[in-house]
Amino acid sequence: MFSTAKWTSTGVVTLCEGVYTCGRRCVGSSSSKRGILDKINPFKDGKGPSSEAASKACPPVKCCDDVVKVGAVEIPMFGYGTWQLYPPYVESSIEYALDIGIRHIDTSITFTNLQDIGTALEKLFKCGKYCRDEIFLSGKLPYYNMKPDDIPKVVQSYLEQLKVDYLDLFMIHYPVGVIEDKCLGEYFPDPTTDHIAIWKEMEGLVSRGCIKSLGLSNFNICQIQKLLQSATIKPVNLQTELHVYNQECDLVKFACGCGISVTAYAPLGSPGLVQHLFEISGSDNCVGYPLGNLTVERIGRKYRKTSANVLLRFLLQKGIIVIPKSEKPDRICSNFNVFDFELDGCDMEELEALDKGKYGKMFTNNVWQGTDKHPDCIEIVAEDRRQQTQLNHLEESRTF
Ligand SMILES: NC(=O)c1ccc[n+]([C@@H]2O[C@H](COP(=O)([O-])OP(=O)(O)OC[C@H]3O[C@@H](n4cnc5c(N)ncnc54)[C@H](OP(=O)(O)O)[C@@H]3O)[C@@H](O)[C@H]2O)c1
Repeated sequence: MFSTAKWTSTGVVTLCEGVYTCGRRCVGSSSSKRGILDKINPFKDGKGPSSEAASKACPPVKCCDDVVKVGAVEIPMFGYGTWQLYPPYVESSIEYALDIGIRHIDTSITFTNLQDIGTALEKLFKCGKYCRDEIFLSGKLPYYNMKPDDIPKVVQSYLEQLKVDYLDLFMIHYPVGVIEDKCLGEYFPDPTTDHIAIWKEMEGLVSRGCIKSLGLSNFNICQIQKLLQSATIKPVNLQTELHVYNQECDLVKFACGCGISVTAYAPLGSPGLVQHLFEISGSDNCVGYPLGNLTVERIGRKYRKTSANVLLRFLLQKGIIVIPKSEKPDRICSNFNVFDFELDGCDMEELEALDKGKYGKMFTNNVWQGTDKHPDCIEIVAEDRRQQTQLNHLEESRTF
């Protein structure tokens, strides 16, 4: 059983029929991002800059060159996450992210900041600094609206709050819907959630033009397989928890084989999750902290890069889209500084060896509790959670 609070939180790579190809998006200035980022690397001297210094250090670049292409859909590989992006920071952070070249913004109605993101975008569009079609905007169907009839009004609400005419990508946020027990004021997983009926309704919205492409989030292989059997419009993207401690090799391989690109959420290991878990349950359930991992730090020193750069570069080199969140300009800038170096084969192997499999999952094991009761979600059981907590305790005591 879970409480209401737990559920209110939260070159071109082409993917076509299972094949990735690489190339460059042809946009804006001819100066390569590599060159620009070389010049502006605020961590060259090993020290982080102040926010003010970072703003001065980062001249606007015209585009984020690297995109994943799935059929006709181009998804910039470096996106900007907006969970826990609090309203006072939205306007400056969104503008700053766009100014340094990020062209992909991941949103969700459950993050409760859509309106602020919409206001920020509207200002930037009105003053002519950016136009709508330069930016890839994603949204998600919330778990409390997992009924076909709800979907048109949810999408309408996205469009109104974001003040745009269309979304580039609309995903099912979580495979299990929830139903509210009004007496208890709590939500319970709805084991009857019908993915096929939901998908059909979403396909209708693509035909109407208010959504350009469809995707899934937090789905497992079995659920994707079932959906693919009846989908007329295939998902172009799977957004899932993915970081060095939870590398999801089988899921990624499966998705790529089906021509579905993968986006890593929590690519830095979501350090903000600890605060969220305290807020909802008074405990952090001991989630891991890959940013402080000694191997990651050592590899960072080798390339004169931050641990965040190593974690993000590791995923990008595997063709995985990343959407790290930060509300701090110096971090937004330094995190994006991942296109001017390449991890060598040995470093990639060392990072691959940090995978803890399902024990490395932070969200599935801590936030989405209760959904293991759904027939399609039998992967995580209580015993696994206990073992994961023990492993994380060990990890923390080794790291610090
Ligand atoms: N589909 C889903 O179910 C789902 C679930 C969760 C998240 N998401 C999406 O994925 C995005 C990314 O996930 P996330 O936000 O959970 O995790 P994340 O991007 O891995 O980590 C974000 C956290 O790391 C901190 N941070 C950022 N850069 C840092 C750096 N260089 N050094 C140290 N700390 C740093 C941020 O704090 P500051 O802001 O203070 O810098 C923030 O607390 C979300 O924002 C959201 O858009 C989707």
